[in-house]
Amino acid sequence: MKLNEENLPFLLIARIELGKIMKQDRISKVINEVQKLPTLPSVANKVTKLLKDPTCTAIRVSEVIDKDPSLTIRVLRLVNSAFYSIRAEVTNVRHAVALLGFKTITQMVITISVFDVFKGGYGREFDREGFWKHSIGCAVISQKIAQLTDYAGVDDCFTAGLLHDIGKVVVDQYLHEEMEKVIKLTQEHEISFADAEKEIMGINHADIGGQVMENWKIPIPIIVAVKYHHNVLEERGNGKNARDPIVDIVRLSDVICKREKIGYTGDSIMPEITEDLYSRLNINKETIDKVIESGRDEIEKAGIFIELT
Ligand SMILES: [Fe+2]
Ligand SMILES: [Fe+2]
Repeated sequence: MKLNEENLPFLLIARIELGKIMKQDRISKVINEVQKLPTLPSVANKVTKLLKDPTCTAIRVSEVIDKDPSLTIRVLRLVNSAFYSIRAEVTNVRHAVALLGFKTITQMVITISVFDVFKGGYGREFDREGFWKHSIGCAVISQKIAQLTDYAGVDDCFTAGLLHDIGKVVVDQYLHEEMEKVIKLTQEHEISFADAEKEIMGINHADIGGQVMENWKIPIPIIVAVKYHHNVLEERGNGKNARDPIVDIVRLSDVICKREKIGYTGDSIMPEITEDLYSRLNINKETIDKVIESGRDEIEKAGIFIELT
């Protein structure tokens, strides 16, 4: 077709439409890969169900975990680590549940199970160590902010902080070519990792991680925190859970870890935290400084979680 003023709008519309189709193709490819992911080990599903059951007892939780020896060993290793600073040695799950509560132990099982799925190969380009350090930092800082703001799901916040960027691991492990392109784009341009992902795949790691968590029926507060951790309130839609304070808690912790250079997120773009987020959490910047100070030692001790990956 010869280019002239009359057919220019048609060409422009055709180009935009073609762009949309290509973007949709890229998104479909990613979603297809996500649907092919292995399911979570059944023990994780069982304990997640128990978590929702108000009649659940510590004994029932420990009975489910006891049936999986490898999981039991790792739970006990975590419980006896410096992170939980329990003086006497804990030698069985029932005792662990009695000491830390079944919510903490259940979250531990979910975390270990998620790590198990992603134990496989990583690309050399992806800074795995920096990634997990950032995740651990975010888990500890999220937990601290939750305690400070009297948020009821302190354990949820730890797990959500730990898993908030898990979508990046999905991409690295199952869409390696795309991950290489994303890393290249962030290295060559002033662009955030999440924006580079949108450019290459049409969606970012938060969308991907949220989808995986949804497929696995992980507790809802964790799903929304993972899914919306790069979205301001207005971008999260009107769903009740999208406004759960856990999203703000993880968002804030994510930025804090980035500013404090705790681990590495894949880019050096500093996201802005708006005043409304501080006011929704009823927290100020001075309090945050104290959280960081008191969190450093715990982040060090929480390194035990990285060993499980
Ligand atoms: Fe992220
Ligand atoms: Fe992050």
